[in-house]
Amino acid sequence: MPAYAVLGAQWGDEGKGKIIDFLASDADVVARFSGGNNAGHTVINDLGDFSLHIIPCGVFREDVMNVIGNGTVVDPDVLIEEIESLSQAGISVDGRLIISERAHLIMPYHIILDTLAESARGISAIGTTGKGIGPAYSDKTSRTGIRAADLLDLDTLRERLEEVLTFTNKVITKVYESDPVSSDELFEKCKVWAERLEPFIGPAGRYVNDTLDRGGNVVLEGAQGILLDLDHGTYPYVTSSNPTIGGASTGLAIQPQNITSVLGVFKAYNTRVGAGPFPTELFNEIGETIRTLAKEFGTTTGRPRRVGWFDGVAARYSTRINGYTSAVITRLDVLDGFESLDVCTSYQLDGEVLDEPPGGTAALERCKPVYETLKGWDEPTAGVSDIHKLPTNAKIYVDRLEELINCKVDIISTGPHRDQTIMPKSVI
Ligand code: GDP
Ligand code: IMO
Ligand code: MG
Repeated sequence: MPAYAVLGAQWGDEGKGKIIDFLASDADVVARFSGGNNAGHTVINDLGDFSLHIIPCGVFREDVMNVIGNGTVVDPDVLIEEIESLSQAGISVDGRLIISERAHLIMPYHIILDTLAESARGISAIGTTGKGIGPAYSDKTSRTGIRAADLLDLDTLRERLEEVLTFTNKVITKVYESDPVSSDELFEKCKVWAERLEPFIGPAGRYVNDTLDRGGNVVLEGAQGILLDLDHGTYPYVTSSNPTIGGASTGLAIQPQNITSVLGVFKAYNTRVGAGPFPTELFNEIGETIRTLAKEFGTTTGRPRRVGWFDGVAARYSTRINGYTSAVITRLDVLDGFESLDVCTSYQLDGEVLDEPPGGTAALERCKPVYETLKGWDEPTAGVSDIHKLPTNAKIYVDRLEELINCKVDIISTGPHRDQTIMPKSVI
């Protein structure tokens, strides 16, 4: 004991990578439990600037084991590429990476299907990352998925691929009128993946539980964010997994009582990539300024992120679902120099005041944010690591976010680097 979860508390890209790298100094294991390489986690530390998509952010600490849990979907090509690019930067994962034998694999036909489905959706497109995430999870729930363990038994895999492709190629050719995938070519790829990844594939859940039993610290690395959750997010404009706290338990085989801390990572404002409702979205110069100043472009796809004011309604909902024991505010420095800042305190829907987002997407699209305006600050917060050195108005802003989030803010991030962090007391 204990496991502590670090979760995206908005629509993803809250700065989880930075916070996990910071907290990993006390960890024995850092483990991903959901999503795949739709995630893009930026870590900037003394070793360099990195964007991790599937390998956990504990990889920069030599004595940390990195686990890719059963709840994830893994694109073997991307994983191998990431292993190699880390190795070129002098970081070896040998003996420090376990891929759950139960994790599902993203196959090339999942990527094809993701792209075909998105273009078929036309103006209703979700704006997926195009990495094959949805189709890989669909196959998992349809019980036609291929798992990491299958790479360890190539004869059975060959038969299974034939079976799966017989159906999938019909969908690709007859529904989408596109070109079929060659089973022989795919099998050749699988042989290469098997050879490269075999040393890493193993009983990840068992390893994590043994660590907890020994009294070790396990950081559960969230990907995406609550509002992209398949059940609790802005469906259908969501991802296909559960980045919320329940997903951490299922996606790593951890008993819930072992998760003693839940950290919700919030940006000091809101962003979203892809389509779907976003009540506080800014369509004016302020939004554009934040996007440009803060380089709000997707880590995985490079798409411009939509930008909006801090949404206190969504934040409170986020706390209710995940039960945060601590809130983390990132990118406070981005708001340096603004004369005033709006925060959304409730929604108006058809003459009613709401303190929680409605479940229906169409209703959420119609919600009008009710704002409260707070004073900005002139002195920079960028790089501040001592809570007493924060400008008064920045402190007042964080205090107001704390009330809206309905959870104590225990960490404030004032820059992308490991050291640009305020953490007055240990949170784990
Ligand atoms: P993640 O997906 O939640 O890990 O977040 P991303 O890495 O996709 O996006 C967060 C971005 O914000 C990255 O470019 C980080 O380097 C950067 N970042 C994280 N914390 C801070 C901060 O406190 N201030 C600033 N200016 N940038 C930050
Ligand atoms: P991190 O871990 C931001 C979004 C996509 C799209 C929707 C569905 O870096 O916070 P998908 O490819 O998952 O089927 O796309 O989810 N999305 C993310 N947005 N950060 C992420 O991850 C995301 N992962 C998926 O933009 O709107
Ligand atoms: Mg990201």
